[in-house]
Amino acid sequence: MALRGALIVWSTFCIVRMIRSSDANVSKPLKYPIKIASKSALQLLNLIIQVDKRLKTIACPQDYNLYAKDSGGRFCYRFVPEFCRNQSAAQKYCHNQGGNLISLNDLNFDFFRRRAAEERSYSIQQIGTRSPTLPACSNFWTSASDYGRETLFRFINGHEIAPNSTVWTDPVVFNTGKNCAIMNASKQYLLTDFNCALALASPLCQIFL
Ligand SMILES: *[C@@H]1O[C@H](CO)[C@@H](O)[C@H](O)[C@H]1NC(C)=O
Ligand SMILES: *[C@@H]1O[C@H](CO)[C@@H](O)[C@H](O)[C@H]1NC(C)=O
Ligand SMILES: *[C@@H]1O[C@H](CO)[C@@H](O)[C@H](O)[C@H]1NC(C)=O
Ligand SMILES: *[C@@H]1O[C@H](CO)[C@@H](O)[C@H](O)[C@H]1NC(C)=O
Repeated sequence: MALRGALIVWSTFCIVRMIRSSDANVSKPLKYPIKIASKSALQLLNLIIQVDKRLKTIACPQDYNLYAKDSGGRFCYRFVPEFCRNQSAAQKYCHNQGGNLISLNDLNFDFFRRRAAEERSYSIQQIGTRSPTLPACSNFWTSASDYGRETLFRFINGHEIAPNSTVWTDPVVFNTGKNCAIMNASKQYLLTDFNCALALASPLCQIFL
């Protein structure tokens, strides 16, 4: 048991050194080269990695899901299909929860199109009969808008969408006076230039960890 305790102390020391040395001047050789040779030390390292992962997994607020694919970012998101709002009210809703309407990118767009369809059909099952007007509100707001820069849509995180991008419904129609991008339910949730003032879409909120 004492040996085991000593091993744990020693391996913690090694890990701390390893973390420290990663910030150090790399051209300087390490005084104590790091070798994790013992099985216990590896087990401890594994445990630390697992705890770290777990802490990050449970960091999303209630009702939010974690998005953490190999690519496409790492953040919490929440579809709020039971609300039907105009764009500014939807953004305000997300902001009050500590986030914004979603900023998508090429790598996560198809994932969110699939999820939008799932969330919408689930919510229609759940609340469709209780609120007959809600199924008419089938789109989701993104944070993208082109106020003052017609056809140059930009998400709230600064990421721009090219006018010829395949994320737009085809054929893409841009309208002056419609400045916000929705995920269009009747077009498999591809994006459509939409009137920001119409309460005909639901929030899709995003919170970065
Ligand atoms: C690394 O060390 C060298 C020599 O000691 C020094 O000239 C250099 O500025 C250091 N670099 C950093 C990033 O600290
Ligand atoms: C979009 O247009 C740019 C130039 O404006 C071009 O470089 C790019 O290949 C086009 N992309 C597609 C998908 O057509
Ligand atoms: C969805 O896209 C289609 C095809 O571009 C368009 O006719 C329809 O008006 C769009 N829906 C909304 C809510 O804008
Ligand atoms: C959006 O809706 C809110 C109420 O939900 C309203 O106060 C606000 O004036 C609306 N904004 C626009 C631009 O229509």
